[in-house]
Amino acid sequence: MNIAIFVSGRGSNLQAILNDSELKQIISIIAVVSDKIDCKAFEIARKSGIETYTIGDGDTKINAEQLTKKFLDLDVSLIVLAGYLKLIPDVLIKSFPNKMINIHPALLPSFGGKGMYGINVHKAVFDSSAKVSGATVHLVDSTYDTGKIIAQQCVDISDASSPEEIAERVLKIEHKILPEVIKAFALKKIKIGSNRIEIIKE
Ligand code: GRF
Repeated sequence: MNIAIFVSGRGSNLQAILNDSELKQIISIIAVVSDKIDCKAFEIARKSGIETYTIGDGDTKINAEQLTKKFLDLDVSLIVLAGYLKLIPDVLIKSFPNKMINIHPALLPSFGGKGMYGINVHKAVFDSSAKVSGATVHLVDSTYDTGKIIAQQCVDISDASSPEEIAERVLKIEHKILPEVIKAFALKKIKIGSNRIEIIKE
């Protein structure tokens, strides 16, 4: 299965996908795309020989229409937003219905939406006095963090002393559930119903 991955920064989720030996057998990452000209995640991609693209307008960038055409030509079956902080242009979302997923570092539908990214999410969770947080993988629609939920896992934060500590615990879960969901897509084990999404077990 050919996949494309969108990133905005550090790329630890990208690295987790690349490190997964089972995934290596069943997926091929054909592009890593960012809203940035350069970022740590691009370095990770280049080390693995993966083509990188900056989305936008201008000579050194690729616009949403061109990217959509490229993905369709390259037979991309899944687009993964792995720490991508911008809204995805509608043309891409419409061209890949139910084929675009995002990892969010909290338990949606709480702590999501515009502005809820990176450490902001963990600050909000910390300030809310919640005892658990976690990560969510969901389908992408045209608004932030509202698509159907595919997978979630929670983590105890009752003794966490800072938002940074919550971020660290949640990131470990992200690195586990995102590769798992990609695997389920590649093995065609995702059943999308009208309200709920099922991951079919063995
Ligand atoms: C992750 O927590 C992701 O869920 C969030 O931004 C962070 C990016 O991490 N939206 P990385 O770039 O994958 O290291």
